[in-house]
Amino acid sequence: MENRKLSKPVCFLILCSSISLVMAMGENTSISVNVGVILDLDNSLNTKVWLSCIKMAISDFYTSHGPSKTRLVLNIKDSRSEVVDAAAAALDLIKNVQVEAIIGPKSSMQANFVIDLGDRAQVPIISFSATSPSLTSLQSSYFFRAAQNDSSQVKAISAIIKAFGWRVAIPIYVENAYGEGVLPSLVDALQDVRVRVPYRSAIPPTATDDQLAQELYKLMTMQTRVFIVHMYPSIGSRLFAKADEIGMMKEGYVWIMTNGLTNHLSSTNASIINSMQGALGLRTFVPKTEELIDFRSRWKRQFQHENPTIIDVELDVFGLWAYDAAYALAMAVESVRTTRSLFGSHTTNASINSSTDLETLRVSPSGRELSHSLSSTRFRGLAGDFSFFNGQLQSSVFEIVNVNGDGARGIGFWSPQYGLMKDMSKKIDANSSYSTSKSDMGPIIWPGDSTPTPKGWELPTNSKRLRVGVPVKVGSPEFVKVVHDPVTNRIDVTGFCIDMFNAVMEGLPYAVTYDFIPFAKPDGTSAGTYNDMVHQVFLGNFDALAAATTIRANRSLYVDFTLPYTDSGVVMVVPMKDSKSRNAWIFLKPLTWDLWLTSSCSFIFIGFVIWLLEHRINDDFRGPPSHQVGTSIWFSFSTMVFAQREKVVSNLGRSVVIVWAFVVLILTQSYTASLTSLLTLKQLQPTCTDINELLKNKESVGYPKGSFVRDLLIEKGFDRSRIKSYTSPYECDQLLEYGSAKGGIAAAIDETPNLKLFLAKYCTKYTMVGPIFKTDGFAFVFPKGSPVVPDVSRSILNVTEGEEMKNIENKWFGKKATCSVTNPMLSDSSSLGVDSFWGLFLIAGFSSCLALILFATSFFFRHRHILITIRGSSICRKVGVLFRVFDEKDITSHTFRNKNLGRVEPSASPCSICQPCPSSQDSNHTDIQESPFFREERALVGQI
Ligand SMILES: *[C@@H]1O[C@H](CO)[C@@H](O)[C@H](O)[C@H]1NC(C)=O
Ligand SMILES: *[C@@H]1O[C@H](CO)[C@@H](O)[C@H](O)[C@H]1NC(C)=O
Ligand SMILES: *[C@@H]1O[C@H](CO)[C@@H](O)[C@H](O)[C@H]1NC(C)=O
Ligand SMILES: *[C@@H]1O[C@H](CO)[C@@H](O)[C@H](O)[C@H]1NC(C)=O
Ligand SMILES: *[C@@H]1O[C@H](CO)[C@@H](O)[C@H](O)[C@H]1NC(C)=O
Repeated sequence: MENRKLSKPVCFLILCSSISLVMAMGENTSISVNVGVILDLDNSLNTKVWLSCIKMAISDFYTSHGPSKTRLVLNIKDSRSEVVDAAAAALDLIKNVQVEAIIGPKSSMQANFVIDLGDRAQVPIISFSATSPSLTSLQSSYFFRAAQNDSSQVKAISAIIKAFGWRVAIPIYVENAYGEGVLPSLVDALQDVRVRVPYRSAIPPTATDDQLAQELYKLMTMQTRVFIVHMYPSIGSRLFAKADEIGMMKEGYVWIMTNGLTNHLSSTNASIINSMQGALGLRTFVPKTEELIDFRSRWKRQFQHENPTIIDVELDVFGLWAYDAAYALAMAVESVRTTRSLFGSHTTNASINSSTDLETLRVSPSGRELSHSLSSTRFRGLAGDFSFFNGQLQSSVFEIVNVNGDGARGIGFWSPQYGLMKDMSKKIDANSSYSTSKSDMGPIIWPGDSTPTPKGWELPTNSKRLRVGVPVKVGSPEFVKVVHDPVTNRIDVTGFCIDMFNAVMEGLPYAVTYDFIPFAKPDGTSAGTYNDMVHQVFLGNFDALAAATTIRANRSLYVDFTLPYTDSGVVMVVPMKDSKSRNAWIFLKPLTWDLWLTSSCSFIFIGFVIWLLEHRINDDFRGPPSHQVGTSIWFSFSTMVFAQREKVVSNLGRSVVIVWAFVVLILTQSYTASLTSLLTLKQLQPTCTDINELLKNKESVGYPKGSFVRDLLIEKGFDRSRIKSYTSPYECDQLLEYGSAKGGIAAAIDETPNLKLFLAKYCTKYTMVGPIFKTDGFAFVFPKGSPVVPDVSRSILNVTEGEEMKNIENKWFGKKATCSVTNPMLSDSSSLGVDSFWGLFLIAGFSSCLALILFATSFFFRHRHILITIRGSSICRKVGVLFRVFDEKDITSHTFRNKNLGRVEPSASPCSICQPCPSSQDSNHTDIQESPFFREERALVGQI
């Protein structure tokens, strides 16, 4: 009843206030949209930073976008660093506060269940810090990750590891959804660049310092020195502190941190940074835009204002993502509101009391629209272009940093397209390819303040020096010889294998220290065969073997061989016999039959040419046809011994003869030389060239005692009684001397290097035949999986290809080279063939033909009147006349002019001195005078 008695002023007041309320409502048309924020509100600095970023994002959005129809109302819940608390907070927000979206939660573990809740209630969950790739597998269309997932950096890690050529790496990760999430993709990426992951070090999230130390000690005993640390800062910083403490931040170690640690470096305690010196890290790259610089200073002021007690706070990339996420949400909400009025109409079946009843979870009416809207939100955020693709933020350029001094120093970048690069701006041109070159990174100071690139592995730490086994009294002393000095108790190891081992180890790109340890019983005698030594490496008693160990398939099951450092193959040494065939026809041997034939033809041809050029003007080449033929052939063959008597009077003939004489000189000289060598050099031939021959003839063969060659021989089919062992080259020589028939052996069979050594001693008596079995030569032995093997193999190639190998061989095997080179099988190839002389024949033939052409030309020119002037006569007749003329003496020649003069002065004519010997002269005269053709020609000439 008091109501009715309200006084007027009171009524007026109510009226006024209600009017103003209505008016205010009219002005403020924006709808409140409830948004949840789930973060660990413990006193950590990060949360405060992120929260302030979210708040600033919302206020920035509404100030910059003028009058908006919606307004985000943040409902902040504490997840107390617990998965259950995060879930409870999410449930509370969804059911009771009826939020339209949730920002957070912080960790991937918390996110897991919250995402499921959001999916059921169709409430978008936007996390800016849950980076585990495993969250993607939940396949929720209501989960948005406003951050890079962890697996976007695995390619960057593998690129760095490849750049430095490390071949093994160990991931150290925290054993939960965050740590394990990245492992599959990390291991895949490492496998892509052929990097082995021998071990995965999982650290429980609750590990104590002692447990950390225990795990680190375990890693220390392994060979691998490249560690990839994927943890969050709380445990990661403890790990580094511990590693520093136990001496794992020293030279030789490589630490690579994922962005989980590196993104927080700016807010990491200085003492932790100090323990991380030299580590590499990957950090999300945020381009320094003007907006960012502006925001940073605004944020700093604001934060300082809100938290006056906290000084010197750094904004990390998660803060920027938080800002971008909140901004994107505000944008999405606004765009949904403008398209359809949805917010504010709460349709729910839930009773407020049953606050955790999951079955009756409210379905957000605007969830689907909001999720679509978020998917298509695009803007330029503080941390780069902001857009979701499959609910993931697309941005994956990483900065590579090196922890030095007070913080991280940028040494390069990595982008999925271009790989490693020194400078972001440089590699904009499209034609640059994916780089994994370490030259695309700046200089790095590794742990222990060292600058040389660590090799990425260490020999087992319990003994830093390699124990290299050497055989005692097995095989030839030239290979390995162990001398024990009983006085000084020093062991002196020498030999070809030892020198090779030293040279190879020196060639490694890093220093390896080692000791030679004889494989001997305490009394100094050999403790076993090569097989036994190899087994010792397998057992771990030796770290390597420097011995003449042959690469064998069954040995390689237990150890790793390097590449061979000697010739390969099993060969046979057999005695030699002189096979010189002293038969009657040896004089034919120096020249091949075709050279004989060619020479003979050439002699005849030259004889013909000389006759052609000479017979008209030279009395020596005249006479009856048979005489002429005889003289020509006689002449040319006598040039062979330069005994020709006939004078050659024409210049053409002389030139032909002089060239021919030169050819003959060379031919005869070569023939002489070849025949000499055939007659005087010993023609040594092996008694046997085929092992099957030995097998067929049931001959005995020898092998060095303890060698695997015995097995090969038995495999080949030799009877055990026909296989004899020898222990020294001397014994081998003796056995070969006796021969198979007298209880010795017909052949010794061993590996090439051993028998080369044997031949060096007995060069003249024996020869090497083969290889008869294929083996791969001698190699050094290392335990299976030893990281040095590839480097040692490379170094062996470098030594064997270079001069050093020759020097070492000469030192130990001396004259071996000169002996093994003489191949006794060469006997036929010493004959000379046409192919070595065809040039000479060509020259002789050419000069002869040239002379013939000149002769013919001048002949026809001189007798052209015959062709021209005999008119009416047939061609046959003309040719006939020419032929007769050709056959006649050319009395116009100066040789006959002299002769004619001689006839006038009888004293000059030899015939007239002795006695009238007119028969020949007469015949000449009658030849000239009585020849009817000659008369005819004269007559013709007279007519002209
Ligand atoms: C508009 O309404 C929202 C929520 O109802 C309130 O938080 C805000 O202060 C109001 N703004 C004005 C200018 O009245
Ligand atoms: C992680 O991010 C990269 C780059 O954005 C993307 O290619 C990849 O599919 C993502 N992986 C997962 C499991 O979400
Ligand atoms: C860094 O950590 C050490 C030990 O954890 C602590 O004593 C020190 O106060 C910390 N320093 C700062 C600046 O937080
Ligand atoms: C709400 O309850 C009514 C019946 O009470 C039911 O028909 C409806 O499907 C429920 N809605 C949801 C979203 O559970
Ligand atoms: C090979 O040896 C030479 C010197 O002997 C050295 O300069 C070169 O770098 C070596 N090469 C490799 C690949 O080890």
